[in-house]
Amino acid sequence: MAVSVLLRPNAPAVGTEICHLDDIDEVGARGFSFGQGPESFDFFVVRHGGGIEGYVNDCPHTGGPLDWKPDQFLNVNKSLILCATHGALFRIEDGACIAGPCPGARLTPVPLEVRDGAILVGEVEA
Ligand code: FES
Repeated sequence: MAVSVLLRPNAPAVGTEICHLDDIDEVGARGFSFGQGPESFDFFVVRHGGGIEGYVNDCPHTGGPLDWKPDQFLNVNKSLILCATHGALFRIEDGACIAGPCPGARLTPVPLEVRDGAILVGEVEA
């Protein structure tokens, strides 16, 4: 993460509690917004296996949101992140586009950590 995503307008500070792990299905996703209007910081959390990943809700193809309705970020079998607009598919683990109109592009990660069952904004890796 060369430039901190957490420097964007309305991005939550490190340590901000997002939700509890149990608020997301064992394999599932949920979207969150901080702020209002065009400057809002919109991102989503994917829970998969034993891990969680966070990404800004901007598709690298057009910059629009990925979800076609709230919290719908995954394909049918919940193995990949799906952009509803033109069908791009992204690996959950690293946000890399593996199919669709933006191959090789990546979702922008949001650092997260789990502490005592809560999902918090984590430190940005250098
Ligand atoms: S906007 Fe996401 S695939 Fe086109």
